[in-house]
Amino acid sequence: MKLLIRKGRIIDPVTGIGGQMDVLIEDGILSLIASEIREPDAEPLDASGLMVCAGLVDMHVHLRDPGFTHKEDLISGANAAAKGGFTSIACMPNTRPTLDSPERILELKTRAAQIDQVQIYPIASVSYGQLGIEMTQADALRQAGAVALSDDGMPISSANLMRDALIRAKAAGLPILSHCEDASMVEGRAVNEGRISRRLGIPGRPAIAEEIMVMRDTMLAAETGSSVHICHVSTRGSVEIIRSAKKQGIPVTCETCPQYFTLTEEDILTHGTLAKVNPPLRTPDDIQAIIEGLQDDTIDVIATDHAPHAAEEKALPLQNAPSGISGLETALGVTLTALYHTGKLSLSHILQKMTINPSVILGIPKGRLAIGAPGDLTLFHPSERWQVNPNEFVSKGKNTPFRDKTLMGCVKYTILGGKIVYKFTSRE
Ligand code: DOR
Repeated sequence: MKLLIRKGRIIDPVTGIGGQMDVLIEDGILSLIASEIREPDAEPLDASGLMVCAGLVDMHVHLRDPGFTHKEDLISGANAAAKGGFTSIACMPNTRPTLDSPERILELKTRAAQIDQVQIYPIASVSYGQLGIEMTQADALRQAGAVALSDDGMPISSANLMRDALIRAKAAGLPILSHCEDASMVEGRAVNEGRISRRLGIPGRPAIAEEIMVMRDTMLAAETGSSVHICHVSTRGSVEIIRSAKKQGIPVTCETCPQYFTLTEEDILTHGTLAKVNPPLRTPDDIQAIIEGLQDDTIDVIATDHAPHAAEEKALPLQNAPSGISGLETALGVTLTALYHTGKLSLSHILQKMTINPSVILGIPKGRLAIGAPGDLTLFHPSERWQVNPNEFVSKGKNTPFRDKTLMGCVKYTILGGKIVYKFTSRE
């Protein structure tokens, strides 16, 4: 089976290749990139006017399956990923039951293998049931197919457990992805501590709750020599701690998400629970620091933290509604609009953080546009405008504070292993 993508503008941050070229995928593998390829027996795909890059990789997705399939399931999540231009996603273990044993990882992998739209890589929990008490079997989990360990959503309170887990994870060759918020400082609090929490007269989640854990985890990474990846960085202080840790050679990497370089705590006033997310939306100064962190590569990855919830759950009062944003279908558009179209980051720099960097951190053979690489590609129009309408989402989670926003940048085709798994048709 051959697919010939013609006349697209290639962009690859790894090799630096760019410009108009043809790409041939044969039997699922990228076999040729050249200025003009003649291959009469290949299925042609006209990519004129489109950017062609390695398939996007999202290292932080909540698929909710098993246990919470009213919010999302493997199929709806995979469709949302494909529509968002993602060909590989890593899914968090906060399911019911928790992905905390080799059997559960194998079961998920077996089910994921039936899905054609996206490659799903499971993340196992650091502790059984994400309870932060007893460590899971890192080595057996890696052998079963887990690509990382994380108790995401449930910050690991015990420094002792985190330290032991880092040592064990290093021996098993797995990164730990850490949700940094001190539970004692954030429990039951819905918004950032600041102007809005004061105005609403409710207790807030302070920036220091995140930063104290970022500091702890980088110190533990330094002491153990094990690498730690900090999830969804949201504050200036966190960026500064990680920048300084990297300068000292501490093995730390980190991600942020589109909401943290575009939205502020004020968005709670207009979007209510749709803007409730953990960690919370912060201030314009934090946004500025996140963008600087992306620019100087303190922040390695742009992930979504795709966190779908049911409409009736998000309809609860602010204090009771679950946290999270359904992010797979808006990530590229929001990122291009906020960072590329404003001249803050080049396309190549953005794609580095959405393809190769997460692949390297997870140790998966993706994110490269090179001969012999998997035929996973994303074709997008870099400036086409569209308006976010959650009712058009294929994710079950319609919960987005980006609703009604006009974005620039639109996914046109997602190709996985040489097969077109998503093709833009029209917006309803
Ligand atoms: O807002 C969030 N929602 N943050 C998390 O860390 C977990 C996620 C979820 O699972 O809903």
